Amino acid sequence: MSVLYTGIGELVTNDPAQGDGSALGVVTDAALAVEGDTISWVGERGSAPAADTSVDCEGSSVIPGFVDSHAHLVFAGERSAEFAARMSGTPYGAGGIATTVAATREADDATLAHGAARLAREMLRGGITTFECKSGYGLSVEHEVRSLAVASALTPETTFLGAHVVPPEFRDRRDEYVELVAGPMLRACAPLARWVDVFCDRGAFDVDEARTVLEAGMAAGLTPRLHAGQLGPGPGIRLAVELGAASVDHCTYTTDNDVEALAAGDTVATLLPGVEFSTRSPWPDARRLLDAGVTVALATDCNPGSSFTSSMAFCIALAVRDMGLTPAEALWAATAGGAAALRRPDVGVLAPGRRADFALLDAPSYLHLAYRPGVPLVREVVTPV
Ligand code: NIG
Ligand code: FE
Repeated sequence: MSVLYTGIGELVTNDPAQGDGSALGVVTDAALAVEGDTISWVGERGSAPAADTSVDCEGSSVIPGFVDSHAHLVFAGERSAEFAARMSGTPYGAGGIATTVAATREADDATLAHGAARLAREMLRGGITTFECKSGYGLSVEHEVRSLAVASALTPETTFLGAHVVPPEFRDRRDEYVELVAGPMLRACAPLARWVDVFCDRGAFDVDEARTVLEAGMAAGLTPRLHAGQLGPGPGIRLAVELGAASVDHCTYTTDNDVEALAAGDTVATLLPGVEFSTRSPWPDARRLLDAGVTVALATDCNPGSSFTSSMAFCIALAVRDMGLTPAEALWAATAGGAAALRRPDVGVLAPGRRADFALLDAPSYLHLAYRPGVPLVREVVTPV
């Protein structure tokens, strides 16, 4: 069945061949036709094709569904007291992760599944139609497997993060933990995961440990992505580029060498402004990355410790206000950028042949995403079920 969405005040396609010819390919007074789950036509309303049925968007703007390439939805408990302490000056460290690991191990399967599904619904209401979901709060074979089973029920973009931190029972045996992650844990988790990730930072895993886990993951058929440069500068960003990781995430701290490596490689730099907001960390030098030609994505990093938001619109507002992205760059990073970070050519762009996957905003322009922070502008989401 064909559906024509008409009366679109401003249509963001992310296809430079459309409309104003910018990276966002903005078409004004637009229409968009869908056949089944696929876009069949986009353009100005006046030249729209006939369809079986039509939907009047009443001047709403339409944007591609947000693509959230970094989220930790499988956990139990919450850490609001830790957040409150940070707002009074206590610094963020990787140590808080152990609190969530303990709560997650204690929770039953239904609690974990309901918690993750609730956050996924929250994301969808806010316009996120594609999202990645990591394990990493189980940190044993049994609990990492069940975390990935929960994630797999929600998204195909599942990530094995057994190397999130060294769990307390391995504190004095970290080599043994790395062997466990790169061996039996990986073997048990690989069938449930598309990606392998490591938190390569102070208080987590060093670059040699990260390499061991990522290379083992690659040998098991997973594609690497990496947490690096969150708590301080280090060699993680260059390791990600060297291994051809799809994305390196956080990049709060970047050196000249990191920016050069990213510009020369294919790895997306995924920025997580919810983390800088919630941990009072310095803002990443996003302008420098963009000006060097690095592909930048924005993601929520939804997790109970460093960034408990499921709102991509909030992340866009922060990126514009505090990281120096233009509203157009921020929207691109939250849609096409996320799609690049997940290597998903089917989403992030509204063009014939792509997935019918978009959000209607109660606003005349996408500019309102940053201009009206905190306002739930998404009035409807269209995505294949
Ligand atoms: O991406 N940085 C490491 N992992 C998460 C935070 C985890 C937590 O504090 O619970 C992140 O920010
Ligand atoms: Fe993370």
